[in-house]
Amino acid sequence: MALKLALFVFLVIAVVAAPLPRAQSQLLGGLLGLIHINGTVFCSINGNIGVNGAVFPNAQVQLRCGTGNVVSTATTNGSGVFSILLDPLQFLLSSLVTDCNLVVATPLSTCNANLPNLGGALQSPLQLIGTIVSGLLRVTTLNPTGFLFTPAT
Ligand SMILES: *[C@@H]1O[C@H](CO)[C@@H](O)[C@H](O)[C@H]1NC(C)=O
Ligand SMILES: *[C@@H]1O[C@H](CO)[C@@H](O)[C@H](O)[C@H]1NC(C)=O
Repeated sequence: MALKLALFVFLVIAVVAAPLPRAQSQLLGGLLGLIHINGTVFCSINGNIGVNGAVFPNAQVQLRCGTGNVVSTATTNGSGVFSILLDPLQFLLSSLVTDCNLVVATPLSTCNANLPNLGGALQSPLQLIGTIVSGLLRVTTLNPTGFLFTPAT
């Protein structure tokens, strides 16, 4: 009887305790740090404020790293603004700046039919803006350095 009880207690502890370290580290990562990438996509070839300041709404913005792997995506809102949140446990800030690019996957002709369909995409590297600590939360912000039309290779 005592042995059965001991075995039962052991099993319960094993089942309850096993997932804890992982859940805790995810919780800590989620609570203590965030990488925030945001910016505005304009409806223009050089990515700067377009004709009449036209922005590019509903554009898919991809974060591509290394050899071009899409690691995250976001869609611009009605003001052309996108926002991507990353877990700092999974990304190195320095490699985001050196190895990653933002690529607008939606063709420019979508926001202005007069813009030629050139077979390429707006692209921008990332720059580190800074880190804000608010209570337990540490938010590091990166922005595009500036979107430029890059022909397809
Ligand atoms: C990006 O977010 C920061 C604060 O997190 C804000 O100050 C800034 O205006 C945002 N940029 C854009 C383009 O929305
Ligand atoms: C787009 O998002 C930005 C940043 O969150 C916000 O300031 C702006 O009002 C939003 N625009 C629309 C049309 O929702």
